[in-house]
Amino acid sequence: KTINVILSGGVGSRLWPLSRKNRPKQYLPIFEGETLFQKTAKRNQPFCDEMLIVGNKDNYLLSRKDLEKAGISEYRELIEACPRNTAAAITFAALVCDPKDILFVTPSDQLIEGDAAYTQAVERGIALAKEGFIATFGLQPTRPETGYGYIEADGEEVKAFREKPDLATAKGFVEQGNFYWNSGMFCFQAGVFLDELAKFEPNVYLRSFMAKREMENGLLPEELSLEIPSISVDYAVMERTEKIKVVPAYFQWSDMGSFEAIYDYLIEKGHPTDELGNMVIGTNLHTEFTGLTNTILIETEDAILVLRKENAQEVKQVYERLVKEK
Ligand code: GDD
Ligand code: MG
Repeated sequence: KTINVILSGGVGSRLWPLSRKNRPKQYLPIFEGETLFQKTAKRNQPFCDEMLIVGNKDNYLLSRKDLEKAGISEYRELIEACPRNTAAAITFAALVCDPKDILFVTPSDQLIEGDAAYTQAVERGIALAKEGFIATFGLQPTRPETGYGYIEADGEEVKAFREKPDLATAKGFVEQGNFYWNSGMFCFQAGVFLDELAKFEPNVYLRSFMAKREMENGLLPEELSLEIPSISVDYAVMERTEKIKVVPAYFQWSDMGSFEAIYDYLIEKGHPTDELGNMVIGTNLHTEFTGLTNTILIETEDAILVLRKENAQEVKQVYERLVKEK
């Protein structure tokens, strides 16, 4: 059986103030009237026998509403009491499936064209998973983005996986040419994943197992969940496992994870900028920029953010400071 595991527990801290705790970015209906979550579910349905949503108690109702709109009524849900990052979220999914089940794990915050190139890549990923590998999907990098994972590859062989390098390192990777961006989607057998995780991060495995044992009606317990180390699957497993493979992929992909990505997307859709690349999002007020280039101004009901496109990754720190101050 192939199961699409949709991860939908992130808060989208790099898109503050557009995305908020009660309205994470995957539920913003700003992509041709649809949300990224909805698009994800629809795109992957044809490849999978089942759908399993791993969300949290603050957003599972948003997921349900989106799925209803998409006409999808059959799915399972796991509801986290608190986000413990992607290693734990995927572990919960793996623990409720059969070890031989193929999990096609997808984030819910990306914009992907579900075309022939996508079909081809996913089918290859599923085939590799059947052989016992952990498949990643590699995309051609177009800039030294520091918010992504990089895969050093030779065909489908992976020489190294490096999550979120610093700028100088990322620049080197892009120049070398044999590096892909990690798409953030993975394909593997549930049992293979759990074995690898238990080997590299036994505590994440054990604590997730203990929390899952106390799960009631798909809802995970808060206290036991807080004991799980918060680490992303990229650091926990992908950087370390020897079972990793990469499917070189050629589909249209954009991680809408930062204002730089949103900016690029909007430019493509014809959203205006001034001649120095300054852009306004979310306001109808007349806005002028003087002495600034590549600056983005975002206005929402209760907040304004002004940033340089190149500093898009730092919005996360702004968000974190605001959470702390509250
Ligand atoms: N259920 C659940 N619980 N989901 C989570 C949690 C959690 O605690 N944390 C994050 N997610 C979801 C997010 O909503 C998103 O859909 C997905 O998991 C990936 O998390 P991100 O936080 O967006 O990861 P990232 O963008 O920093 O990095 C990953 O994606 C990049 C490409 O977009 C990595 O896999 C990188 O290597 C990759 O390049
Ligand atoms: Mg992301």
